[in-house]
Amino acid sequence: MAHFVKTCVRRFSTSAMREQAIKCVTVIGGGQMGAGIAQVAATTGHQVVIVDQSEDILAKSKASIHKSLQRVAKKKFAEDAKAGEAFISEAIDRVSIQTDASNAVGNADLVVEAIVENIDVKRQLFTVLDKAAPQHTIFASNTSSLPIKDIAECTQRMDRFGGLHFFNPVPVMKLLEVIRIPQTSDETFDKLLAFGKALQKTTVNCKDTPGFIVNRLLVPYMAEAVRLVERGDATTRDVDTAMKLGAGYPMGPFELSDYVGLDTMKFILDGWAEKYPDNPLFEPSAMLNKLVAEGKLGIKTGEGFYPYKKK
Ligand code: CAA
Ligand code: NAD
Repeated sequence: MAHFVKTCVRRFSTSAMREQAIKCVTVIGGGQMGAGIAQVAATTGHQVVIVDQSEDILAKSKASIHKSLQRVAKKKFAEDAKAGEAFISEAIDRVSIQTDASNAVGNADLVVEAIVENIDVKRQLFTVLDKAAPQHTIFASNTSSLPIKDIAECTQRMDRFGGLHFFNPVPVMKLLEVIRIPQTSDETFDKLLAFGKALQKTTVNCKDTPGFIVNRLLVPYMAEAVRLVERGDATTRDVDTAMKLGAGYPMGPFELSDYVGLDTMKFILDGWAEKYPDNPLFEPSAMLNKLVAEGKLGIKTGEGFYPYKKK
């Protein structure tokens, strides 16, 4: 009897959990991160809606997903081109696009926000979404540096709020940082972890501290590289060569900054410098500020620390 009850309970809780599993995901922001998150969610069987500010941006977002899927399929289905094509078209079919965020969250089990790294803009968005989304919808931010709590506070669902911090390029990088605030319920946190597993990412649990784990170490390292060059101690190229060949990093700090986006790097540093003015690791950099002011944001604009061929 005890065994029966235990089995029933287990069966009930498994099916109840399955019923509540995250199936429909709305990704707000179809830039480099949002497109990657949408892609990975779609290839792992989720229905995805991407929201951005214009049809034009959304078309670019879908095109970049298509290109990236081709790279994945080329490797995954090297021996079977037909299966590769099916993989691509099934994933693309699961992704729809929208410019109206409120309309896009009506069926969402989860909203992942990946818009510009600006607290006011993120809060404005979540205030609107909180009114439009169903009760059960979980909200998550992919912020690189902002406190999840400060974003979540504008909603009435802090228990259904957390952080999902992905890494660029999302289809390749295996890590997902899952962040909880004190108000995040166990159920929400478990669902976010389960979602990470469903995306075939390795998850690490993070507290809501600046930069979580990776960026708390990575961003000061990248900023320190800029300061080294600002002092005239080495060239950008030599620093990159040194860190790749001497420390085994896949990209040097300047290549990586261009890859991440210099605007995002600046938003992160400025935010931390304002909050922690006495920490020299977070000091803004004149060189970075100048490049951003000139619109040289890295690969996405065709020039950052280095020039790139226009896409
Ligand atoms: N989509 C799909 N596949 C991709 C891809 C994409 N966007 N980008 C690369 N790939 C695949 C390629 O198809 C290739 O696959 P094969 O090995 O099967 O051919 C593989 O990844 C390697 O790519 P490349 O040969 O083009 O180039 P690479 O060997 O130099 O690798 C890289 C590219 C994976 C980006 C590598 O340089 C790397 O790991 N760089 C460091 C990235 C990193 O540190 N990211 C974290 C940034 S910080 C962050 O994200 C947090 C934040 O908040 C700022
Ligand atoms: P991005 O500039 O490539 O894309 C941002 C997108 O958001 C743009 O397409 C923009 O049009 C859109 N957007 C801006 N405001 C919007 C709004 N109110 N509603 C809908 N769409 C809006 O930036 P990204 O690199 O994808 O970064 C997005 C977020 O992810 C940031 O918070 C960033 O800190 C974080 N992040 C970035 C990286 C990285 O390596 N670039 C890595 C992890 C996390």
